[in-house]
Amino acid sequence: MKIGTVKELKMDESRVGIIPSGAEILMEQGHSVYIQSEAGLNSGFMDQDYAEIGAIILKDAKEVWEQCDMIIKVKEPQEIEYLSIRKGQILLTYFHFAASKKLTNAVIQSKCSAIAYETVRARDGSLPLLKPMSEVAGRMSIQEGAKYLEKAHGGRGILLGGVPGVAPATVVVLGAGVVGTHAVKMAAGLGSLVYVLDTNLERLRYLSDLMPNNVITLLSNPLNIRNTLKNADLVVSSILIPGAKAPKLIKKKTLKSMKSGAVIIDVAIDQGGSTETSKPTTHARPTYKVDEIIHYCVANMPGAMPLTSTIALTNATIRYAESIANLGIKKALSLDPYLAMGLSTHLGHVCCPQVAAAFNYKHVDWRTVV
Ligand SMILES: NC(=O)c1ccc[n+]([C@@H]2O[C@H](COP(=O)([O-])OP(=O)(O)OC[C@H]3O[C@@H](n4cnc5c(N)ncnc54)[C@H](O)[C@@H]3O)[C@@H](O)[C@H]2O)c1
Repeated sequence: MKIGTVKELKMDESRVGIIPSGAEILMEQGHSVYIQSEAGLNSGFMDQDYAEIGAIILKDAKEVWEQCDMIIKVKEPQEIEYLSIRKGQILLTYFHFAASKKLTNAVIQSKCSAIAYETVRARDGSLPLLKPMSEVAGRMSIQEGAKYLEKAHGGRGILLGGVPGVAPATVVVLGAGVVGTHAVKMAAGLGSLVYVLDTNLERLRYLSDLMPNNVITLLSNPLNIRNTLKNADLVVSSILIPGAKAPKLIKKKTLKSMKSGAVIIDVAIDQGGSTETSKPTTHARPTYKVDEIIHYCVANMPGAMPLTSTIALTNATIRYAESIANLGIKKALSLDPYLAMGLSTHLGHVCCPQVAAAFNYKHVDWRTVV
């Protein structure tokens, strides 16, 4: 199969769909890999890195779209790319269709096979192609928090781990899922006093067994949230109720009871945020203050760490790309019903029930059309 990747066109997006090690795996199995020149540059991969292992470098995105049977990307196609998608072409990427009817219509009209990373499932029901980005965001949340706690950035000027004779910072993590666990791990490792709150007691039991003694687990309820926020230097919110907007767990009036210069990293901003005063920000202007509390609400945090994020993403996507390339789409989906959950559209049919429901399209079982 001819497999390719193009340079991402979405603003602030520096990741790339295929890294050299992924390209090599595909080529070892007899496939050809086509890379648009400089597609990997912002993730730290030069054309030469791909060329050395035998990938073909093409100057323009147009050539990649024209030649390849399967395109592996990171973000949804941008408007300028819509007409490049070909009938029967397989397109693997994050689509987030429900956010854009225009994108959904364009992809349906292209008659490609669109596999959305965000709806591919693992056997245990988890989302294996979202997980790597949650891991990055979780770890990054503590790094960003540490930075904005610095006085020069308007923060309290407290070191997360303290020093001998001086108490460490207090970190409060709301949500003990993938993002939350990685945030807790980083904060605990730096020596902070960490409170982690979740409504899921099993999740808290798991973390309590796993984490060191400077991590305290608490059931998430309004009283525990209010009490922990009062002493917090850094708050990371990483709650998720699948399919719903994030509940506003941090009220505006609570900010007044918090320490001046404390930092809130609202990772859940991509689901609307869990602070009443949160609004999306960008990497160019990541923070703002309300009632002397610094709010960081960047909706695409992993975009700032393209090297780590790109490798983490390819680590997770490559086995699906391999399977489709080796077996063909029909056999690959038949053998893996969890991968089949990622097939959103095929030859103009909408195969994902949620996408069909979002825009009133007829839902078609993929088995009847692939
Ligand atoms: N901003 C970014 O760049 C970025 C990057 C990755 C993920 N995210 C977002 O981060 C959020 C978390 O992702 P995840 O992968 O960790 O999800 P997850 O499903 O693994 O974890 C969510 C956790 O929230 C808990 N929760 C739900 N309601 C709660 C409540 N009222 N109080 C406390 N905990 C509650 C759940 O029990 C669960 O453990 C999602 O909204 C995701 O989209 C954002």
